[in-house]
Amino acid sequence: MHDEVLMCYYGCGLIAPEALKSAQFLDLGCGAGRDVYALPQMVDEQGFVVGVDMTDEQLDVARTHQDHHRDAYGYAKSNVEFHKESIEFLADLQLDLTSFDIIVSNCVVNLATDKREVLRPAFNLLKLGGQLYFSDVYADRRVPAVMARDHVLYGECLSGALY
Ligand SMILES: C[S@@+](CC[C@H](N)C(=O)[O-])C[C@H]1O[C@@H](n2cnc3c(N)ncnc32)[C@H](O)[C@@H]1O
Repeated sequence: MHDEVLMCYYGCGLIAPEALKSAQFLDLGCGAGRDVYALPQMVDEQGFVVGVDMTDEQLDVARTHQDHHRDAYGYAKSNVEFHKESIEFLADLQLDLTSFDIIVSNCVVNLATDKREVLRPAFNLLKLGGQLYFSDVYADRRVPAVMARDHVLYGECLSGALY
């Protein structure tokens, strides 16, 4: 994988399940694409990975290295694509409903202010029996309102953590 993509990795765990062959993936909050580029190594050339993020700077890094990863994996055609969107507005991307085998997310759901608006449309994009895997920051108690209102703590992936 390209060094710049690795340097811009801000995830907090492993999101890859087993049995990935030819799977269609969606990565919510893909950042600079570390997981988007890790997955095609496991899915084979028929698999496909779509990354969604709202930050141009992250997406710029991801897109810059698309050809590098296609060549590194020896694929005739890149099997990843990136879209700019807030994950609370996934439906606006008009991705095909029930088209993904697996949705992953690495340290992003905590940053979403409305988790329901992330999870409901994500569910609609999954095939029957599809799965959602997310690695995130969790809290073992309800986050106090005063912390939830603190923008710095929220941005540090702390006070938006799910209970
Ligand atoms: C902690 S980083 C994790 C990035 C990536 N998953 C990784 O493992 O490197 C959080 C990412 O989520 C994105 N993000 C935060 N809130 C978002 C939202 N509501 N919609 C889309 N992307 C969001 C940020 O732009 C950032 O790239």
